[in-house]
Amino acid sequence: DWTPDQFIESTVAELREQIGGDKVILGLSGGVDSSVAAMLIHQAIGKNLYCIFVDNGLLRKNEFEDVLHSYKDMGLNVKGVDAKDQFYAALAGLTDPEAKRKAIGRVFIEVFDQESHQVEDAKWLGQGTIYPDVIESVSVKGPSATIKSHHNVGGLPDFMKLKVVEPLKTLFKDEVRLVGRTLGISENIIGRHPFPGPGLAIRILGDITAEKVAILQEVDHIFISSLKKTGLYDQVWQAGAMLLPIQSVGVMGDERTYERVVALRAVTSVDGMTADWCHLPYEFLADVSNEIINKVRGVNRVVYDISSKPPATIEWE
Ligand code: XMP
Repeated sequence: DWTPDQFIESTVAELREQIGGDKVILGLSGGVDSSVAAMLIHQAIGKNLYCIFVDNGLLRKNEFEDVLHSYKDMGLNVKGVDAKDQFYAALAGLTDPEAKRKAIGRVFIEVFDQESHQVEDAKWLGQGTIYPDVIESVSVKGPSATIKSHHNVGGLPDFMKLKVVEPLKTLFKDEVRLVGRTLGISENIIGRHPFPGPGLAIRILGDITAEKVAILQEVDHIFISSLKKTGLYDQVWQAGAMLLPIQSVGVMGDERTYERVVALRAVTSVDGMTADWCHLPYEFLADVSNEIINKVRGVNRVVYDISSKPPATIEWE
């Protein structure tokens, strides 16, 4: 029978054998899979694992700093790379969702390639690929699609020529979580909702600016921390907020306002392929709406998305 302890023991031994004294590069995303993959490889080869965590400026509020800190606490050899400006520059003026995804994928590859060149004589690329990623080769929106379309245009970046090591390739998500918990990775990382690679860029409808990102980060932070405070977070598969490209009329004191609208989205799902909108309690929604409108300047209206997938998708872009 499969147990996380036995999986860890045999995998670490195999990794040691396979990698020997070579150097491995791995991109951390803050998500469960890359974190668990990193910890397994770390147990096998320690400081010869070089982790790279890129701040694309599209993460949740404080996420980059918090997660980088957790990684360092876990003993990982990790470099945080602030590439916010490069991503914002590439996104400037883009409104089409696929164009935004492509730009983000392209800049990520550029930044990652540049950083990986700092690691002299690396032989391996570590990846957090899990079993469903292996079998679900078709993901129109996924980052791999972005990488593929990039391939067709230019040459292969150097890090993609490395040998690939994928210690989670045979595992399902729940097994990855068990392994992660057994490795002592904090619940803050193991229990987190999925978050798309392009991040808040596909939750800001229309073009991306640093100002819009800052507004959405505040809104999202209020929503997510309220879910955590009320114990609802673990009952939801994924949650987030969308910044809509419209303004609506409101009133504050004696004054008429004309400000932004945000939509909140929370779904239950097994694998993201289908999803139901969450019937969050009215009192909860009322509190979150009040807090957002009172605290986030520039937002005067909150709506809740009551669409299921299909035919709606989880993200709005
Ligand atoms: P949709 O919106 O297609 O989302 O119902 C299903 C799941 O996929 C995530 N998602 C993405 N993840 N890159 C990613 O890494 C993307 O471009 C992307 N688009 C959607 C979404 O957050 C949900 O979990």
